[in-house]
Amino acid sequence: MSLAEEIVQLEEEALERIGSADSLDSLGELKVRYLGRKGPVMAILKSLGQLPPDQRKEIGARANALRSKLEARFEEAARAFEETTEAASIDPTLPGTGNRIGAVHVVNQVMDEICRTFYGMGFEIAHGPHVETDHYNFEALNFPPDHPARDMQDTFFVEGDLVLRTHTTPVQARELERRQPPMKIITPGKTFRNEEISTRAHVSFHQVDGFLVDEGVSMADLKGVLVAFCKAFFGEGLKLKFRPSFFPFTEPSAEVDINCFLCRGEGCQLCKYSGWLEILGCGMIHPNVLETAGYDAEKYTGYAFGIGVERIAMLKYHINDIRLLFNNNVRFLRQFL
Ligand code: DAH
Repeated sequence: MSLAEEIVQLEEEALERIGSADSLDSLGELKVRYLGRKGPVMAILKSLGQLPPDQRKEIGARANALRSKLEARFEEAARAFEETTEAASIDPTLPGTGNRIGAVHVVNQVMDEICRTFYGMGFEIAHGPHVETDHYNFEALNFPPDHPARDMQDTFFVEGDLVLRTHTTPVQARELERRQPPMKIITPGKTFRNEEISTRAHVSFHQVDGFLVDEGVSMADLKGVLVAFCKAFFGEGLKLKFRPSFFPFTEPSAEVDINCFLCRGEGCQLCKYSGWLEILGCGMIHPNVLETAGYDAEKYTGYAFGIGVERIAMLKYHINDIRLLFNNNVRFLRQFL
């Protein structure tokens, strides 16, 4: 048998054996037998030197091709064995581990719910920047420089005349400037104050402001929309109380208390036995604010209100420490899925 024939036969035999190998181990043995240092392929390659030069080139090429082909086949077969063992090691009868998926944070849930309630009453939604100018955060809202009302808002100053917005009311000033009446808008978002962190206060929290500007708007319209909101949000049968208050950007200004929805006004721990819960600030938009935005305050009037989201969330879920809403304890947050 010539060397060339021997190579062909060797190939057939090796391929057949690879095809019928029944384990990774026997495949390994076969590989040593055929491609090892003492195997037939190496023997042919080693004998090339003794061949006449005209055969050397051809036989060398065939032997090398055989070696590459067998190596590839061995590798392929080994991979197939590995894959089947891997599949066999999966136990389909074990219970699944499940995927942990994210969820909407309780503060965002409450904020969304507040927005949905007003959206249902025809309010549009507008947003503004967290880093705000002194102009929109204060000046345009009728806080003159050095006005003592600025003290109520413990401001984080950024640089120059930039501040972290202390409320979402600056979005009102921006929208007034950008649009023409009539308009009916809510402005949800994050706010920042340089406060001592405590059970009731945090440096970052959320508000939803709302306002409406048109001809002939009165305090009665404000009352109507807030009564509708409270009923939709806290349930029917609640009483509202408007208490006079002060904000530079509204005149007159009020704060709204509702009948404690837990004890229905009887007195309990939630309402500190007063029967009432304070839920928001509001008022008629100050003429100075309308005029700064370029409106004729004789012709147009408007109402505005501002709701603290964390406060509402704490009331709704009887949470007694605002820090629970911010320290990302999953066991706490999971209650609100
Ligand atoms: N911006 C006020 C605050 O942060 C809340 C507020 C009160 C907003 C009355 C209003 C409003 O729009 O009319 O304390």
